[in-house]
Amino acid sequence: MTKTLIIGATGTVGGLVLREAVRRGADARALVRDKARANLPAQVELMQGDLADREAVRAALRGVDSAFYVSPHETNEVEIATLFGEEAQRAGVRLVFGGFHIEDDATREAAGDSIPAYVPKLELAAFLARTDTRPAMFSLTNFDQNDEVFRADIEAGAFPTPLHPDGVNRIDLRDAAEVITTALTTPDFPAGSYQLLGPESLNGEQSAQIWSEALGREVVYTGDDPQWRKSFERRLSGRKLADWIRSFELLGASPIPTDPAEVETMTKLLGRPPRTLRDYARDSVAGAR
Ligand SMILES: NC(=O)c1ccc[n+]([C@@H]2O[C@H](COP(=O)([O-])OP(=O)(O)OC[C@H]3O[C@@H](n4cnc5c(N)ncnc54)[C@H](OP(=O)(O)O)[C@@H]3O)[C@@H](O)[C@H]2O)c1
Repeated sequence: MTKTLIIGATGTVGGLVLREAVRRGADARALVRDKARANLPAQVELMQGDLADREAVRAALRGVDSAFYVSPHETNEVEIATLFGEEAQRAGVRLVFGGFHIEDDATREAAGDSIPAYVPKLELAAFLARTDTRPAMFSLTNFDQNDEVFRADIEAGAFPTPLHPDGVNRIDLRDAAEVITTALTTPDFPAGSYQLLGPESLNGEQSAQIWSEALGREVVYTGDDPQWRKSFERRLSGRKLADWIRSFELLGASPIPTDPAEVETMTKLLGRPPRTLRDYARDSVAGAR
């Protein structure tokens, strides 16, 4: 059986990948910074260490066939991703990445020129894509799970995250986790770049309406109020707060359209159509997310 290492297992993306891997009976190991705080399923082999510690990363990669990497919101994001890619390559471990990657050099450079804050993220993904690890590079659109951070605001009647009026594609990470787990546990999963996405683009009003239906109470879109950053400051801190504010400034200003051909590919990868935000909100309210 394939043995797989999961990075970020106490976080949003890695946590769902880990949960899916365990559900499928995969042999999973997680590298966590604090074992005592991790609270992961008993079947998971826990190793403690920081991604900046080369020896800890080397030990975590020893004896595994594949590894999932998600780049944390850390100031040393490029250094730790580089270290991880180097060590995965050295250990002969197949790399599966989830985050944000633009394969074409010219398109990536143009994106970096127009959004300088994204240059480190783009660079680290491009580095991992160049490693000799047969990498599967999964790009993800806006997470449905982001709404959980603002759940108290939403329940109080305000949907505070800016989303462009023409809509932003939103993905339920449970779907992403299914595809990523398949990539982790399939030894000959083709290397390459994949766009993972949800079935539709939604704006803030539509997202608020979906939550309103799921909760059975009025929820109004407040992401067009210049005060939206205050909600972010109440819920997040540090580098993650800065990254999220920058990302949502962008998402408020630029739509993410839904390409039907990409939805078809996602459907093939999943073996069924991707979940909608309506599915996510319903399951979340029912406590099954
Ligand atoms: N939000 C979106 O809509 C969206 C869309 C596309 C792409 N993305 C990308 O997704 C990524 C964020 O993923 P996420 O939401 O899953 O992040 P997250 O919930 O903040 O989780 C980060 C994980 O990384 C771990 N970690 C942080 N620093 C570490 C270190 N030095 N050594 C070992 N582990 C460390 C954390 O562990 P601890 O428990 O120890 O802190 C946690 O498990 C970003 O790269 C972002 O650009 C996000």
